[in-house]
Amino acid sequence: MSDRALITGITGQDGSYLAEHLLREGYEVYGLARWTSTSNEDRIEHIRDDLNLLTGDLADQPSLDRAVEAADPDEVYHLGALSFVPESFTQPTVTSNVTGLGTTRMLEAIRKYDPEIRFYQAGTSEMFGNAPDERQSIDTGFYPRSPYGVSKLYAHWMTVNYREAHGMYATNGILFNHESPRRGTQFVTRKITRAAARIAVGEQDELRLGNLNAKRDWGHARDYVKAMHLMLQQDEPDDYVVGTGEHHTVRECAQIAFDEVGLEWEEYVKVDEKFFRAAEVDALQADPSRAKRKLEWEPTTTFDEMIREMVQKDLAAVRSDD
Ligand code: NAP
Ligand code: GDD
Repeated sequence: MSDRALITGITGQDGSYLAEHLLREGYEVYGLARWTSTSNEDRIEHIRDDLNLLTGDLADQPSLDRAVEAADPDEVYHLGALSFVPESFTQPTVTSNVTGLGTTRMLEAIRKYDPEIRFYQAGTSEMFGNAPDERQSIDTGFYPRSPYGVSKLYAHWMTVNYREAHGMYATNGILFNHESPRRGTQFVTRKITRAAARIAVGEQDELRLGNLNAKRDWGHARDYVKAMHLMLQQDEPDDYVVGTGEHHTVRECAQIAFDEVGLEWEEYVKVDEKFFRAAEVDALQADPSRAKRKLEWEPTTTFDEMIREMVQKDLAAVRSDD
């Protein structure tokens, strides 16, 4: 009998890549998707017939209980969240409810149904925030800087607590930024690659950005979902930091993206106060040595390759819209 996995957030960037990966690995894949008035299934349309979708919301315990029961999974990958940092300042209580308490609800649904189910929590480098260490490892102290980061930190400790209190196989993956052509269009890399493509074909005149000096450790989502899967295949549950170990500025991202379409980024990028954050995380850079050693995981795509891939996909999309 094949292994069964339930993915929350299956309609998101990571959910779609993880579903593809697990299908290739021979899993029967279930996904929790919330009800929406128009389809939110664009990213999984190509594999839709191979998936078992269940409706539910992370704010609604009965729907989560029902989803766990219906999927009867061996592994749960909990990726569902309100994941856009600026919006978490606008909607702090929804963020706390969905991103924070939603994790407790999933853990409870599993504990009640079958505490042997393995659980992955989608943790984030945003929990490090104003980190005291130049490179952040599992030993670095946490200092989140947004309602999103605070909610994820709550979820992180809940996951540790269910592991310690109930003996559950509950694992935190602390993942640094990861992107792809499927990234939401408001996140900075995709905002830049899409704008470069649209400017190149004459559909946009300029690109307004916030803090160009922010540094992030950016990898490719396709690589990072493999680390999630590996984490649940270990003998014992543990917590892992996953990143490339390199960081780059938003400015460098713009340079590469505009270079890919043969344009000078300075001619099109304007700094706009509107995109500065109430509290910024200036720089994040992973120390992923433990994940590399224990999981034998390596990123395969460089930052430069990823941004160019995203620009090319955005160019193809704008051209096909014509
Ligand atoms: P994403 O594209 O924003 O996807 C988020 C998913 O959560 C979507 O499927 C969304 O559904 C779902 N969701 C939101 N609110 C929900 C609710 N109330 N009930 C049920 N589902 C809900 O995020 P991602 O980039 O794939 O990231 C996946 C996870 O990893 C998130 O938890 C994120 O916080 C975390 N993470 C991401 C990164 C990164 O760089 N990408 C790094 C570290 C951690 P809709 O499609 O209906 O909106
Ligand atoms: N979104 C956005 N838009 N960010 C901008 C802009 C802009 O116009 N201009 C500059 N930035 C800067 C932000 O201030 C931030 O420092 C950096 O670009 C990255 O912003 P995002 O791409 O929005 O990602 P994030 O780092 O805040 O959060 C993402 O990564 C986290 C992991 O560290 C999200 O995917 C989170 O869900 C994830 O946990």
